[in-house]
Amino acid sequence: MSGLRVIVLHGVNLDQLGKRDPGHYGSGSLSELEGTVGAFAAELGHRVIFEQTNFEGEYVELLHKASERGDALILNPGAWTHYAWAIHDALELTGLPAVEVHLSDVKAREEWRHHSVISDLCIGTVSGKGVDGYREALELLAGHAPG
Ligand code: DQA
Repeated sequence: MSGLRVIVLHGVNLDQLGKRDPGHYGSGSLSELEGTVGAFAAELGHRVIFEQTNFEGEYVELLHKASERGDALILNPGAWTHYAWAIHDALELTGLPAVEVHLSDVKAREEWRHHSVISDLCIGTVSGKGVDGYREALELLAGHAPG
């Protein structure tokens, strides 16, 4: 197994987990989610770096620096997923393998959530599996480890 440094980038409103609709997002907070994902990563032999911002430009800048800090990405950009083309372009620049994760089943929700601006750049998308989706993402990335 590969021992990747995986950067997990949470976007807009993900810091509000715990207050958002539990039917879509569960009842845990972002820090609880990060604890669980950190444990998944440790089991799989990876290290994780977590980031969250509500500012699109900051998310873009985190992507600009990503290849200096990590080997792979897990992205949940929140609502930016559906329209923020600047995030698409910044992700393309990273050159890193990336998996898109959504806690909720975006394809079963409002039509505006069905489109993703990053899917075409990702090796996979995991949607509707809650926090377990991040484990699946880590497993997908392990199969794309460099070297
Ligand atoms: C989300 C789905 C998005 O449509 C929504 O805007 C979010 C969270 C998810 O994790 O299910 O903020 O990315």
